[in-house]
Amino acid sequence: MTFEGIEGSGKTTQVARAAAWMQAQGLPVLATRNPGGTELGRLLRDALLHSRGHIDAGAELLLMMADRRHHLTTMIEPALAEGTHVLCDRYTDASRAYQGAGRRLGEKRVDELHERWCRRDPDRTYLFDLPVDAALARVAKRRGASFDRFEEEDRKFHERVRAAYRRRARQEPKRFVVFDASQTADSVFLSLEENLRSLFRKRGRA
Ligand SMILES: Nc1ncnc2c1ncn2[C@@H]1O[C@H](COP(=O)(O)OP(=O)(O)O)[C@@H](O)[C@H]1O
Ligand SMILES: [Mg+2]
Repeated sequence: MTFEGIEGSGKTTQVARAAAWMQAQGLPVLATRNPGGTELGRLLRDALLHSRGHIDAGAELLLMMADRRHHLTTMIEPALAEGTHVLCDRYTDASRAYQGAGRRLGEKRVDELHERWCRRDPDRTYLFDLPVDAALARVAKRRGASFDRFEEEDRKFHERVRAAYRRRARQEPKRFVVFDASQTADSVFLSLEENLRSLFRKRGRA
């Protein structure tokens, strides 16, 4: 399953809580992230998020997809093959929203790369949705010393990203579950937990 949303929507917080909850249920779990789940991914993440120079939008998309492909084949697929549940902080929907809509490359370009190089879709995607202003206020509070290329983008960029996420969720209602992320972290997790419970009740322990 994947966790999506704009900066500051609470993805990382909720991935950690979901992973802890699943472990407590005795479910095998791998919590990881895009970009950055692998050794190569950490290098790519550093370049993509923290480098200061301009990066061509197409190059940014290709590097994100390179990370995703490497992560998928070396980490996610082996984990799934042994029955581990994978929780991923961002995946291809993030590129649809950020590079497709935010950088205006078009979601079709992202879909083409996904089809060719990643293909595997999450069985469930949790979208943490909240107004851009509220999310950016959280990010400003969290911000440490490190520069972040996406956090530096203007409001309109983040509005395009949010709108793209919401659009995708409407297009794929079976895969997406949307949460109101403006609630407290505890109350968001309560809804998430309820959803996880029903998911695993339906599936049994497989
Ligand atoms: N529901 C919430 N309400 C208020 N603050 C939150 C909530 N969820 C997370 N935070 C805080 O907001 C910041 C961003 O959360 P984080 O989980 O890192 O978001 P993301 O991974 O989506 O960027 C962190 O400082 C976190 O502690
Ligand atoms: Mg995060």
